Amino acid sequence: METIILAAGKGTRMKSKLPKVLHKVGGKAMLQHVIDAAKAAGSTREVVVIGSGAELVRQEISGVEFVLQEEQLGTGHAVLSAKEKFADSKGTLMVLCGDTPLFTGDLLKKFVDTHENSKSAATVLTAEIPDATGYGRIVREDDNTFKKIVEHKDATYYERQIREVNAGIYCFDVQKLFTALTKVKNENAQGEYYLPDVLTILKNSAEKISTVVVDDYTQTFGINSRAQLAAANKIMRQRKNLELMDSGVTIIDPDSTFVDAEVEVGQDTIIYPNTYLEGKTKIGEDCTIGPSTRLTNVIVGNNVQAQFSYCHDSEICDGVILGPYVHIRPGSKISKNVKIGNFVEVKNSNIGEGSKLPHLQYIGDCDMGSGCNMGCGTITVNYDGKKKFRTTIGDNVFVGCNSNLVAPVTVEDGAYIAAGSTITENVPKNNLAIARSRQTNIEGWTDKRK
Ligand code: UD1
Ligand code: CA
Repeated sequence: METIILAAGKGTRMKSKLPKVLHKVGGKAMLQHVIDAAKAAGSTREVVVIGSGAELVRQEISGVEFVLQEEQLGTGHAVLSAKEKFADSKGTLMVLCGDTPLFTGDLLKKFVDTHENSKSAATVLTAEIPDATGYGRIVREDDNTFKKIVEHKDATYYERQIREVNAGIYCFDVQKLFTALTKVKNENAQGEYYLPDVLTILKNSAEKISTVVVDDYTQTFGINSRAQLAAANKIMRQRKNLELMDSGVTIIDPDSTFVDAEVEVGQDTIIYPNTYLEGKTKIGEDCTIGPSTRLTNVIVGNNVQAQFSYCHDSEICDGVILGPYVHIRPGSKISKNVKIGNFVEVKNSNIGEGSKLPHLQYIGDCDMGSGCNMGCGTITVNYDGKKKFRTTIGDNVFVGCNSNLVAPVTVEDGAYIAAGSTITENVPKNNLAIARSRQTNIEGWTDKRK
C-alpha cells in the first residue's frame, strides 16, 4: 500500500504566512500527523504533493517524497500531478489530505483492510457530523449505495441537509484511479478539478465503490480556519490526557493540562493544573509536575518534583526538586537529588549530584560538582559584554551569600567562599577565599554626628 498526501493548497482561510499543513496540532505539524498515521497503517511509501509554501514544507518534513503542483487547480489535479510517481505501481493507493490530522493509524489500517477485502475500485471514508458546513456531502442512491459527492458550494438546499460527509480519505486501485482522473472536469462552483468526481466516473464505468462510515467523527475533522485549528487541538489534548490516565498517570484537572502528542509520562506521576508538557518531553515515574509548570523538550527522571517552573531542552535526573519559580534554560543537566528553588535561573550548565541552589542564583555556563551549596544570591559572571566564559566548581564547594564568580574561573573541591566575595582568581582545593573589603567600625560616630 502506497500513500499520496495532498498538501499543496494555500489554506486561504487560515490567513497565515505559514503553509496550512505546517500549523501544529498537539505540538506537531498537521502534515506530520498524517504521515505518521499512514506509516502506522502499513504504508510503504508516501508521496506528498506540495505547492504553496513548498520550500518551507520541504525544510520541515523528511522521510517522504515530494511532488510539486505548480498551480493549485483542485484536489483531483493535485493527485494527477503525481501520476509519474505511480507509473509502475499496482494495488492500493491511499489518498489523504494534509489538513486532517486527527485520524489514527488504527482507523486507516481498518479502512484499507475493508477496501481490499471488498475488492472495490475505490472506497471513501465518511462520517456523520453535527455541523457539515464546508464539507463535501455523500449523496446515496435509493438502495443506500454510493451515488456521488457534492461539494458544499455546489450543493442544493436539500443536499446541504445531508450530514454524512466526505472525510477526504480514500483508497483506490491505483491504475484505475489515474485512468479515471484524466476524465475529471472543472465545471463547478470553484472551477476546480475535484478528486471526489473520480468516484462518480468509476461508478459510471461499472466499477465497485464502497463507503466506510467512521464511529468517531472527530477523527475526520478537517482544518481550514484558526477556529478549527483550536478545536482540533482541544480534541487532540483530550485524547492524549485520556491515554495518559489510562496508562496510570494522575491528571488533577484535564481541562487545564496541555500535553503534546509525542510526550511520554511514566506511571504514578501526578500532573497538577496549568501545566504544559511540550515537544519531545519525557517524564519518568512517581513525579509530581505542576502546578503551573512548562516543560519543553525536557527529559525528566523518576521521583522529580517541579512546581511553577519553566524548563526547556534540558535533562532533569531522578529525585530533583524544582521550584517554585525556576527557569532551566537549554543545554542544562541537573543530576540526581539536586534542589533548585525560589527564583533561580540555570543556563547551559551541569549541576552535580545532590548540589543545592536554594534561592536567587544565576548559574550560567557552569560545570558544578556534587554536594555543593550555593548561598543566596550566587552569580556566575559569564559574560564580559562580548564573549561568554565558563565557571568550574568542584565537589563539596560552599559559596557564601551574594558572591560573584567571574568567569573564566575555577573553584576546586572542598573550597569555601566567604559571603559577599567577588572571585576573579582560581580558588585551590580546601581553601577559604575572601574577596571583599574589610569592615571598619568607627567608635562614637553617632554621638559626634549629633
Ligand atoms: C475537501 C473535499 C471535500 C471533503 C473535505 C474533507 C474536494 C474537492 N473536496 O474539501 O469533499 O469533505 O476535503 O476535509 O476534494 N490541495 C492540493 N492542491 C489543490 C487543492 C487542494 O494539494 O489544488 C490539498 C490541500 O492542501 C488540502 C487538501 O488538498 O490539504 C484538501 O483541500 P481543501 O481545499 O482543504 O478541500 P476542502 O474544501 O476542505
Ligand atoms: Ca480541507
